[in-house]
Amino acid sequence: MKEELEKIHQDCQVALALAKKESEISDIRIQVLGRKGSLTQLLKRLATLPEGERKEIGRRANEIKQALETKVEEALRQIQERERKEALEREKIDVTLPGRRMAIGTRHPLTQILDEIIHIFSRLGFEVVEGPEVELDYYNFEALNIPKGHPAREMQATFFISEDVVLRTHTSPVQVRTMERKRPPVRVICPGAVYRCDSDPTHSPMFHQVEGLLVDRGITFSDLKGVLTVFVHQMFGKETKLRFRPSFFPFTEPSAEIDIECFICGGTGCSVCSGTGWLEILGSGMVDPAVYRFVDYDPEEVTGFAFGMGIERIAMLKYGINDIRLFFTNDLRFLKQF
Ligand code: DAH
Repeated sequence: MKEELEKIHQDCQVALALAKKESEISDIRIQVLGRKGSLTQLLKRLATLPEGERKEIGRRANEIKQALETKVEEALRQIQERERKEALEREKIDVTLPGRRMAIGTRHPLTQILDEIIHIFSRLGFEVVEGPEVELDYYNFEALNIPKGHPAREMQATFFISEDVVLRTHTSPVQVRTMERKRPPVRVICPGAVYRCDSDPTHSPMFHQVEGLLVDRGITFSDLKGVLTVFVHQMFGKETKLRFRPSFFPFTEPSAEIDIECFICGGTGCSVCSGTGWLEILGSGMVDPAVYRFVDYDPEEVTGFAFGMGIERIAMLKYGINDIRLFFTNDLRFLKQF
């Protein structure tokens, strides 16, 4: 029994030394010191030994039992300590590492251009107003002196919601809505989305315009020229050449379109300006007295001018963009350039 005892001691020490996990240690504890463990069983059998031997082996067995209990505790402590160290090592954070930078977005090029336009006109005293995108035929056409059957209606490929309701084809209806609400003097710009059934590299079914309207006593064509010249110079640079070309719009009389000198060819003619040397950037004119009648303004008392421009077109000219669809596909490689 003595050898058996020493062997249990020996084996247990070896097993403890080899154990790597807490669970292995508890298994050893159960196998040796547990109720049915090898050492416990041996202690029970002591009673069968003769007096002298029992005392000696009993003492030794208790020594070993205590020693092993201490060893088990010790082994557990070591493993816990090691696991804690490993965990600390694993979860170590290098606080000196540079952080990951957040990618910061940019304003959409159209928003940038619009903000620039608004900035220029607000310094000239214009106020920003808005109107609905789903519009009555009355405001989109009728009150702008475009009665049913007028050829100008055919030119604006209209999306009809019903017979009397359309997606506005231009921002001009906001002129009428503004004059209905407000007596002169009126000095507003009206930005917003407009819709036409049209799609190719320079036309999108949804695009944006900015309308302008100034009505007061004694406003003349010179005021129109002055304001729009200031606009062109601030938008495209002081050196930009521009011209006022006679044109026609049902809601202005006289009407003029404004062209700037083609900055690709410098006016000699190229594919961008279709050989003309000029790029059209906006429509304008003196508000037609017929329009004043719809809003109860007295054309004998007040005069004014209006203008309208496409924001995409201005952006395409300013940045040399050749496909309008780039504005709406939200490709970051495109957007990040602005
Ligand atoms: N509404 C016109 C269009 O979309 C643009 C325009 C021309 C607006 C002349 C005006 C203007 O206010 O006076 O084609």
